[in-house]
Amino acid sequence: MDQKFKFFFAVILLSCLLISIVGCANRAKDLEQISEDDRIILRFSHVVAEASPKGKAAKLFAQLVQERTNGKVEVQVYPNSTLYKDGEEIKALLDNNVQIIAPATAKLTEMYPQWQVFDLPFLFDNYNQAHQVMDGELGQRLFEIMEKDNIMGLAMWDSGFKQISAVHSIKEVEDFYGLTFRTMPSPVLKRQFELLGANIKELPFSEVYSALQTKVVDASENPLSNFYSKKFYRVQPYLTMSNHGYMAYTVLTNASFWNSLPDEIRTILEETLKEVTLWEREEAQKQNAEVEKLLEETGTTIYYLTDDQKEEWKRVLRPIYEMYIDETSKELIGELVDNNSDW
Ligand code: LMR
Repeated sequence: MDQKFKFFFAVILLSCLLISIVGCANRAKDLEQISEDDRIILRFSHVVAEASPKGKAAKLFAQLVQERTNGKVEVQVYPNSTLYKDGEEIKALLDNNVQIIAPATAKLTEMYPQWQVFDLPFLFDNYNQAHQVMDGELGQRLFEIMEKDNIMGLAMWDSGFKQISAVHSIKEVEDFYGLTFRTMPSPVLKRQFELLGANIKELPFSEVYSALQTKVVDASENPLSNFYSKKFYRVQPYLTMSNHGYMAYTVLTNASFWNSLPDEIRTILEETLKEVTLWEREEAQKQNAEVEKLLEETGTTIYYLTDDQKEEWKRVLRPIYEMYIDETSKELIGELVDNNSDW
């Protein structure tokens, strides 16, 4: 072969190679052409029961994504802390060992104290108020705080209004005295129980049932859907319907992972998540209401806090608002508190 021909041949070969590499890269962006081997797997870890609103929503998301991507994207859901428990999830997300987590806002507060706003007692009177904050500027700003750490907020879900369970009936502030409450890792929540005269013990959700059973702790707070789906009623005979706080979830992903997804797939995931978010919020309200009736059949003694008792709890808890403002910023929640005539 003469030199000229060799050179010409090499150029053709190189061009073909380049075209096929570029072709492959583009192809990965086309849903139809993702092969079995290119299948994208997203691991979604959470700590609650499969039957809870969060558990059901995670499964619905997985199912819809599977259908809408013709199986090209598989969302593997790990409930009940089977993959990671509280305290491990965020690191796993940062390391991209898990791609979606949905922790309660209180679980973010050690890294981002601003998120404690959702732990403030008696902040919201109803779901609508909570959703306005979650979906509004404040929710957005709280998500932005995490961006520097490569965490992206995808959505906010509901757990709902928290109730108190204990080994004896809790009505007056004095009834808290001497009890040890399980708490999540939020200074505002810890302060809440201390002001009410109780002791505190921080525990991951996966350890709450056995801690209640073995009397390591005497009492806890959670929305009814968790109380019921985790069968806490077996070890906590008294329940006070106090609606004293609100528990919201953040649905989070690893930003680098998310941004590396082909556009078409990211769009399907984001649109599906929007739909599932609306479903999850309805399910949380529905389930919390249904469980209230089911609990009567379990023999749980349910007490409804009176308005006077609620006022007294609020009076005792008022200093928490100043604590939050001192530790984070008035700027973030100023308006929220100013608009809440109760405080
Ligand atoms: C808890 O730890 O009590 C809750 O955050 C669990 C959950 O995710 O609902």
